[in-house]
Amino acid sequence: MEEKKSFLKEKIDHKSPNKNIVPITTSIGSDGKLSIGGCSIEELVKKYDSPLYILDEITLRNSCKAYKKALKEYYPGESLPIYASKANSSVLMSNLVSSEGFGLDAVSEGELLTALKGGVPNEKIVFHGNNKSTKEIEFAVRNNIKVIVDNDYDLERLEVLSNSLNRDLEIMIRFTPGIECHTHEYIRTGSFDSKFGFGIEYLNTLFDKISNFKYLKLKGLHAHIGSQIFELEPHKDLGEIMVNVILDAKKFGHDIKKLNVGGGLGIKYTENDDPPSIEEWVKTISASVVKACKKHNLDLPTLMCEPGRSIVSTAGITVYKIGAFKKIPGIRTYLSVDGGMSDNPRPITYQSNYSACLVSNPLNINSKNKYTIAGKHCESGDVLFKEIELADCKTGDLICVFGTGAYNNSMSSNYNRIPRPATVLVSDGESEVIQMRESPLDLLKYDVLPNRFIKQN
Ligand SMILES: Cc1ncc(COP(=O)(O)O)c(C=O)c1O
Repeated sequence: MEEKKSFLKEKIDHKSPNKNIVPITTSIGSDGKLSIGGCSIEELVKKYDSPLYILDEITLRNSCKAYKKALKEYYPGESLPIYASKANSSVLMSNLVSSEGFGLDAVSEGELLTALKGGVPNEKIVFHGNNKSTKEIEFAVRNNIKVIVDNDYDLERLEVLSNSLNRDLEIMIRFTPGIECHTHEYIRTGSFDSKFGFGIEYLNTLFDKISNFKYLKLKGLHAHIGSQIFELEPHKDLGEIMVNVILDAKKFGHDIKKLNVGGGLGIKYTENDDPPSIEEWVKTISASVVKACKKHNLDLPTLMCEPGRSIVSTAGITVYKIGAFKKIPGIRTYLSVDGGMSDNPRPITYQSNYSACLVSNPLNINSKNKYTIAGKHCESGDVLFKEIELADCKTGDLICVFGTGAYNNSMSSNYNRIPRPATVLVSDGESEVIQMRESPLDLLKYDVLPNRFIKQN
């Protein structure tokens, strides 16, 4: 039997899960089948059906611990890592990251409520967004959640609110530092041409404006330069730039106490990816802030960072069942699965690449077939893998796609009225549902047929 080189044989980095393709508890049993968190994937699908999102608790916790440990080791001042909940928002995720000492970043009332329900302390939550509703701003302020001001519209409403409350409100501002990094343009946010934050050239005007407000107290700066970044240099530059902005703000009487450097550390989706470790990332940004503060004789601010993908992506996998095959001689063979762009919109949106294997033959023994893995949606572009080599497989076999913990569930849709999959948390041989599977009937819940249409029928 021919055994191919497989990503499943790579040595696992337990300390920095973002450097692995697979969750750190991945194993292959004596029957040759795949399990995660001590649970057989085949058994999980028997119990919970497919498609199925699975999250590995140990991988999640190790990622959080790596950030905490590195901040403690490399940043001599106060620090607070914050989970960017847009990556995967649920009550369980909020609860888990909070139990690891993390705060949380939210961008909507929905994410804020999820964080609060998960038990994240209000003072450790920050509220982002380039077009917050007034209701959302009021909700945040009422709950003592720090608002990150993205634009003048935010600022005007906060000023009115603080005047009506007759009390000080601490704010942070988001700005675009003008840093270019090599990632997909849709997830690049720190360059000048971005919808997020104040342009760096406007900051002095802004600082002057804020100093005239009675109750708004500028205490923090935020910048996020993009996502799935493999270079360290942009974050080194960011640390320096942010410290310089603290100095600028000082000239207008603002005492900046908090620096939030955003997230962005990349993860390994395929064998071609080689992201820095969590430790290297934290060390780089910490060293840059410390050096710049020393140079200018500044007290160290509280260092906040906002990882999303590097906390949850590698912990997550998606399992699909194979359905139809379509062979187009001389061109390709389509293999269709029971999910696709509604549970993972990243390939069709960003042309993202993933790694996958058959659950019953994870090492791809006797792999000789090239397939295109298509989703079940009514869209030609609904393709999860343009070309993948797999061993012989048939209808009913399971395929496991790795690295789907981030920006899959949270970006999912009901396109074609397809219900969202369940999410199961696995740990130590136990599995628990943390998000229930939707049913087609759930999707009808919000449809209304006006009376006059009922009469017509
Ligand atoms: C403001 C902000 N912070 C943090 C993140 C998390 O980034 P990542 O998932 O790349 O760590 C994002 C994601 O785009 C973001 O927009």
